[in-house]
Formats: sequence, structure tokens, C-alpha cells
Amino acid sequence: MSDFHYQQGSLWAEGVSLEQIAEQFGTPTYVYSRAHYERQYQAYADALGDHPGLICYAIKANSNLGILSVLAQLGAGFDIVSAGELERVLMAGGDPAKVVFSGVGKTADEMRRALSVGVHCFNVESESELDRLEAVAAEMGVTAPVSLRVNPDVDANTHPYISTGLKENKFGIAIERARAVYARIADSQSLNAVGVDCHIGSQLTELAPFLDALDRLLVLIDELAEDGTKLKHLDLGGGLGVRYRGEEPPQVSDYLGAVKERLAGRDLELVLEPGRSIAANGGALLTKVEFLKRTEEHNFAIVDAAMNDNLRPALYQAWQDIVAVTPSNGDTESWDIVGPVCETGDFLGKHRPLALEEGQLLAMLSAGAYGFTMSSNYNSRTRAAEVLVDGDKTYLVRARETLADLVRGESTVPAKDDQ
Ligand code: LLP
Repeated sequence: MSDFHYQQGSLWAEGVSLEQIAEQFGTPTYVYSRAHYERQYQAYADALGDHPGLICYAIKANSNLGILSVLAQLGAGFDIVSAGELERVLMAGGDPAKVVFSGVGKTADEMRRALSVGVHCFNVESESELDRLEAVAAEMGVTAPVSLRVNPDVDANTHPYISTGLKENKFGIAIERARAVYARIADSQSLNAVGVDCHIGSQLTELAPFLDALDRLLVLIDELAEDGTKLKHLDLGGGLGVRYRGEEPPQVSDYLGAVKERLAGRDLELVLEPGRSIAANGGALLTKVEFLKRTEEHNFAIVDAAMNDNLRPALYQAWQDIVAVTPSNGDTESWDIVGPVCETGDFLGKHRPLALEEGQLLAMLSAGAYGFTMSSNYNSRTRAAEVLVDGDKTYLVRARETLADLVRGESTVPAKDDQ
């Protein structure tokens, strides 16, 4: 049984109908399938097999504590990019020793916290960051485990906003500089080189760029060995794509099969940081049609979810399927599915062939990654609820925000005359 499927004329997540979820929790609501997250994580763990290494779920894709706890229970590692993400991992029961800390702007406080809980390593993105990490580790009297994120300068062939491994991007250290930087690490009392990593982009649908990057990293690893630095692990980042609409991304098993083949005979642990490929197709954004509005140019369906709930269409012109929860037999027309936010860019989908009525429920599919995590309170909209389905059980893993949540920490100021 697929995680989201039609049964009795209506869309279900595992053993619960989305109609029931809308009735119980309201809309808009993100709905997640536990089985999906488990299966996708397990595909990576199985493909890694007995090769030593870690599957570190990139929690920026979906950082809800419910999801993180499901993955922590399976023994997952985590890729984090902030102190907030680190605290989420700890709250969800994740093991800090399986955490890799990525990101270009780590603060000294974030480094301190990560060193004190004992993360697996810091994926260091610049020489200035290395200086800061060395100073923080020295002050704490500890040694910081370091992996340099190198920029292998390969074209991931994806949307420019989510391509990260080119020279022109802000990420990583140029691969030509890497040897000199590892030499600097070798000279430090407070730094220990444990690995090397890269992340060349997201939503990749071909293996070739991953394997190109891997080959470049292996050349570097051999050069470092000549210099006397023996690395324990190689981290290829995340980036494997998913099917939103007809894409045919490689299978996890084919990807890791090809990687492991190249690693054969080497004593190198393999670390991966998948986000989207674990999360995207495990979630749907459930929304209700408020109004139907026909103009000369377009038919607009105004729904109660908006760009603040899912920014991907507005930001990347991303396409995600939108389906009726209970399809009717009415005439299909072409609809632009738009939200209530005051921006022309506020749309979830354009030109969608659907038979719609006011009050009807729609589901935006493939919304389990970079959906809720990129949501905001723009237009003072309270953020959606999140519900995790497990078989025929539902868990409200994030309550819908209230007006009190919306203004928490804000205050008014007295009138001028009262000052
Ligand atoms: N590791 C690092 C260092 C990353 O920067 C990312 C994603 C990942 C791992 C996970 O990549 P994934 O397996 O999910 O492709 N908001 C965009 C995607 C941004 C990806 C940023 N980095 C979107 O909605 O398409």
C-alpha cells in the first residue's frame, strides 16, 4: 500500500483518510506518513549495508520532532546547520556522536555547544571558520574533529538556487586550497582532521555529478595521505532527487552501489546527508478551497494555504502535484491554485486540471521536505498544524499556531507624550 493512496473515493495517508484529518485538526495541515520516512531512511541504511559509515538525515528538510524521533529510533545520524537543529536532535533522542555540523556561519556559541555534547565532526566551510573553531576548542581544552567541506567545482545540473558545488557558490573551500588547509590542521593542537566532505546541490536526478565529485575527493584523499594526513571518512552530502513530476532519480541502492564500488579496497567510512530523498514524498499539505473566482484570463481557486506555508513554488517555480482529496465527477477546468497572501507570487500551482467546488479539500503532494521548515508568518498568518500518521493512528506533532504564538516576544511602545 502506498503511503498516500485513494480508497473509497478519497485520499488516505496510511490507514487514515485526509477528510478525517481535516475534520479533526482543521486546515491547512501538513500530514506525514511515518512508514514513508522509515522506509526511505532504511533504504539508505540497507544500501550502506556493512560498509562502515553514517546516514545523517539533513534535518533542514523536515525538522519536526515527531519525524526526528522516528528516525532517531532507527539509529539515524543527523546533519545539522544551527544550534537550534542540534537541540532538536537532542530533544528527539538522537545521538550527538552521530551528528555532523554543516553550515557556512557557525557562531562561537554554536561551536561550544556542539563540542560540549560531542558531535561526530564539524564540516568546516572556510579558513576563518577553522580559526574560530580552533580558538573555541583551545579555550575549552578539547580537540575539535574536523572535516573540510571542499568545493569540487562540478555542475550538479539542477536549479541554480539549489546548486552548491560550483566555484561561484558561497559553500566550501576550493579543492585546490584543501591540501594547504589540512596541513594547517595537522599543525594544530586543538584540531583533528577526521574527514572530507562535499555537497554539490539538491534534487539531482543523475549519478554522474556525484561520481565526478567522489573521484575528485578520492584524488585529494590520496594526496593528503602522501602528506601524512589519513582521513577516516568521506562525506558526499545529500542531494539525491525525488519524483515530483515524471523525474526518474536513481535508486538509493544504485547510487550507493556505485559509490561503494569506487571505495573498495580503501579504509574509508562513508557518510551521507540525505534530506529530500527521505522526506519529500512522505508529506502532503492539506488545504481547503475558500473561493472560486473566474476572470477573463484565469480561473483562480483561493485556498487556505499560501506561500507562507509552502514557499517552493514562489521561490523556485517548483511544481508539486495538487489533487482533490475527494475527486468529484464534475467538469475539469484549468485552475490556478492561489493563497490569501497579498503577493502575485503567492501560488501553489498553476494551470491545474481539476473539477473544483468551494469548500472542497485539496492535497499538495511531495510536501514532506522543505515545506513546513521554510514556512513563515508572513501576512501574520499562523503556521499550519503538523500531523504524523502511523497506521490508523494520528499524532498532532505540532499544534496549529495561535494568535498568542504570533506575537510572542513582541511589545507595543508607549505614546510619545507618556515617555
Ligand atoms: N547537506 C548539506 C550541506 C546541504 O546544504 C543540504 C541541503 C543537504 C545536505 C540536504 O540535501 P537534500 O538531500 O535535501 O537535497 N529549499 C530547497 C532545497 C535546499 C537544499 C539546501 N541544502 C528546496 O526546497 O528545493
